[in-house]
Amino acid sequence: MASPFLSLSRWLRRGEAMIITCASFKGGVGKTTSAVHFATFLQAFAPTMLVDGDPNRSASNWARHGKLPFAVIDERQATRHARAYEHIVIDTKARPDEEDLKALADGCDLLIIPTTPDALALDALMLTVKALRALGTERYRILITMVPPKPSRDGDDARQMLQEAGLPLFAQTIRRLVAFQKAALHGLPVQQVADPRAAEAWSDYEHAGREIMA
Ligand SMILES: Nc1ncnc2c1ncn2[C@@H]1O[C@H](COP(=O)(O)OP(=O)(O)O)[C@@H](O)[C@H]1O
Ligand SMILES: [Mg+2]
Repeated sequence: MASPFLSLSRWLRRGEAMIITCASFKGGVGKTTSAVHFATFLQAFAPTMLVDGDPNRSASNWARHGKLPFAVIDERQATRHARAYEHIVIDTKARPDEEDLKALADGCDLLIIPTTPDALALDALMLTVKALRALGTERYRILITMVPPKPSRDGDDARQMLQEAGLPLFAQTIRRLVAFQKAALHGLPVQQVADPRAAEAWSDYEHAGREIMA
């Protein structure tokens, strides 16, 4: 089967709609932060909407200042708005059951599974991967987020472990940077935050976004 990324890049080149979903069994691993920044990335190419599929409404909350460069739409209204947008990024709640996961996987071109590099999150990730395998989907890629700075080796260790397990992984990892918390707090994409490391923070998601298009 061809790499899902080949077909994604083909879609992008042909200017067709692309649907990306951020999902994971565990909360607090960077789903919403990733959804916001992949939507920011895609918006530079074509009109993009972020569908807020989490009853906690974290993405809607992020958008409430009206400063995000893309539309954030409640999942209950998404179908009515979908026609106006080329790309769709879907943020989801934590702890989807297997039926939810199947619906999510079937409903998108690429599932992005964020994980932090700690043991607890990696255990939860392996459960998610097992469930995806049981569904027979290969359209997913793991993104390691909130990687602590050196001398911690957590990020490298997690990457090595996932690579050795032969799992599809973004080469780019996302660093743990306060700028991301400020971005959520002020309702901005991270590159617009007043923080000395805001540009670095954005470059992590920008590089991950380019991998989707490579
Ligand atoms: N790369 C990062 N560096 C630092 N903090 C982060 C990063 N990504 C997310 N966070 C923070 O971690 C918390 C959980 O992130 P969030 O995106 O809401 O995860 P989820 O949607 O999976 O629950 C939030 O407070 C968020 O601001
Ligand atoms: Mg969230």
